[in-house]
Amino acid sequence: MYAITGITGKVGGEVASHLIANGQSVRAVLRDRAKAADWAAKGCDVAIADMENAEQLAAAFSSTEGVFILPPSDFDPEPGYPEAKRVIDQVTRALMAARPQRVVCLSTIGADAPHDNLLTQRTLMEQSLSAIGLPVTFLRPGWFMENALWDVASARDEGVVRSFLQPADKAFPMVATKDVGRLAADLLRQHWTGTRIVELEGPVRVSADDLAQAFAEVLGRPVRIEIVSRESWEGLFRAQGMKNPQPRIRMLDGFNEGWIEFPDQGRSAVKGDTPLLDVITALVAGSRAT
Ligand SMILES: NC(=O)c1ccc[n+]([C@@H]2O[C@H](COP(=O)([O-])OP(=O)(O)OC[C@H]3O[C@@H](n4cnc5c(N)ncnc54)[C@H](OP(=O)(O)O)[C@@H]3O)[C@@H](O)[C@H]2O)c1
Repeated sequence: MYAITGITGKVGGEVASHLIANGQSVRAVLRDRAKAADWAAKGCDVAIADMENAEQLAAAFSSTEGVFILPPSDFDPEPGYPEAKRVIDQVTRALMAARPQRVVCLSTIGADAPHDNLLTQRTLMEQSLSAIGLPVTFLRPGWFMENALWDVASARDEGVVRSFLQPADKAFPMVATKDVGRLAADLLRQHWTGTRIVELEGPVRVSADDLAQAFAEVLGRPVRIEIVSRESWEGLFRAQGMKNPQPRIRMLDGFNEGWIEFPDQGRSAVKGDTPLLDVITALVAGSRAT
């Protein structure tokens, strides 16, 4: 039995679907009972647990061969990351109590970055789970191609993608969430001791120009990149309602300045096979369906 958190999201859903397709038993760990029916219909066990509740999580993780941990995203954390620390504390306690045979934790490129930034939340998770005495794999994927969801409306309606990744021709390690979920499912079924790190990026690196090109191809209209100047970010993020934009700004700096990067520029990273064009096609199709 494999317990999968974040199962109602993109990566967790793919992890579970891939395990089920390979004949494995899955326990769907979710916080909202209203979302359980689809997974129950697929033959999953269902456990209701919030990532901030160690007791619920320990029950959900009990008697399992493997647990997949998906830390919730927080783009606007309070200074010092108290929200992430609460999740880390409760997840750590739950794993120590339930002692599954092994754990795969979704982390990120940049979990080893030399400067504080949004991804420090995952550095802290890796530190905590490294000390629990269980076999733990930290899966560190690159930037999700699905982040381009934010650009669908402007690409379609204005022919513009506004990019925080810059310069426009700099290629970044990106990967489709389908590839992330599939690799996580495969890792859960492997046997290892201690902690290990697995890095993942897509088949080729992707620049902002490549994103615009992919949108142009899918939408059948010209799409250009507009670089969002660094000086405007803080005002822009605050206008969008963020209270503490600095960690997000530093994360973007890290990608643009190159200090958020795989240690060997991705040479030893696992390579997913989903091309950018497939992801953009699905995002555009999804926007038409809604
Ligand atoms: N975006 C990137 O470029 C990138 C790159 C590398 C790594 N990552 C990592 O990828 C993860 C996000 O994955 P995703 O895109 O698959 O996420 P997603 O689609 O946004 O799904 C998030 C999942 O987490 C669940 N969740 C959120 N808060 C919870 C809580 N308090 N208790 C229980 N469940 C909770 C959600 O459940 P509900 O349905 O109930 O909301 C949902 O199932 C983050 O850990 C992020 O750091 C992202």
